[in-house]
Amino acid sequence: MSIFLDNLKNKNTDRVPVWFMRQAGRYMEEYHKIKNKFNNFMHMCKNIDAVTNITMQPINKFSLDSAIIFSDILILLECLNLKVDFVKGKGPVVRNEDFIKKINNIIIDKELNQLQPVYDAIKSVKKELSKTKIPLLGFVGAPWTLATYAIEGSLSKEHLKVRNFAYKETKLMDKLVDMLSELIIEHMSKQIEHGADAIQIFESHSNSMDYFLSERYMIKKCIYITKKIKKRHPSVPLIFFSKTNNYLGFKNFFNNIDCVSFSSNYRMKNYLTVVPQNISFQGNLDPMKLVVGGNEMMTSVNSILEDMSEKNFIFNLGHGILPETPVANVHKVVDQIRKFKKRV
Ligand code: CP3
Repeated sequence: MSIFLDNLKNKNTDRVPVWFMRQAGRYMEEYHKIKNKFNNFMHMCKNIDAVTNITMQPINKFSLDSAIIFSDILILLECLNLKVDFVKGKGPVVRNEDFIKKINNIIIDKELNQLQPVYDAIKSVKKELSKTKIPLLGFVGAPWTLATYAIEGSLSKEHLKVRNFAYKETKLMDKLVDMLSELIIEHMSKQIEHGADAIQIFESHSNSMDYFLSERYMIKKCIYITKKIKKRHPSVPLIFFSKTNNYLGFKNFFNNIDCVSFSSNYRMKNYLTVVPQNISFQGNLDPMKLVVGGNEMMTSVNSILEDMSEKNFIFNLGHGILPETPVANVHKVVDQIRKFKKRV
């Protein structure tokens, strides 16, 4: 077993496992070398050799405790016939002209044939990893986060369009979120069937929901999704990442997840008695500290490790690694975590 999976399964380990959200990406020269060969990000995400190579880059460089398949949450929108472009300086742009008019007539294809290259890439990465004990993490976006991109088209700061839509066109929003939930379940299952050892759910845009929307579209839907997955794949751990923590009060939420991934806004120590003891924690260094480095970074790393020294815990950032991150800082943090002995 790996120390990453051990911590997800509530087993104590003497060392703290570490991986980083967006650990493969623009802060690495090796990534650019491959990316420069493609003029379309989604094509790269469907090229099995490129995905295998990019997924392995941070593993080979930093000896992290988990790999994460190189892909993107937005790839699933293709199954709603939405095309996604990644525009330099603007981020993702979803071609959603006329989409709203069509929502009621969409019939989803649960086979997800268009995503077969993702699953083939998972198989290929697993073959590479079989020489090590390192597990592979799959991932999906949560329904609200994916719906945000589908409705907004490109991201605004306050997500005004999707909030307006959710209040004014509740039936259509329900339909969209329900379709996405079904697609998410199939996408998670397929990743598991092709070799993913655990799955992380990204609810990156939870902070734009008021409490009522959170209950309707985050809490209820994520409970529904995780329940279905656990029925099909009871032993595969699920990690839930959200920017907000208002779901922590819902005890049902923890029936089917194994780990809470905290954003940097929260001191995890304060949640030790709020979240059931068997649930592991993941997080939550501010990605900007990994850019800045020095004392500021090291003091926070040590403080997080001390706070979590008696807990089943996986070291990570509070959000994805930033492109400006110096590789040397990543090495320093990993070394520090390796040296730390847990008090269990
Ligand atoms: O963690 C990993 O190494 C796996 C790869 C991964 C990517 N996207 C690759 C990527 C993962 C886990 C994601 C998830 C993802 N994608 C999320 C959830 C996590 C989060 O950050 O909140 C979201 C919201 C997206 C949507 C998305 N994809 C955005 C907003 C962008 C632009 C971001 C930016 O920083 O410009 C992407 C593109 C993207 N996805 C890149 C990478 C490495 C950058 C592409 C590039 O220019 O090289």
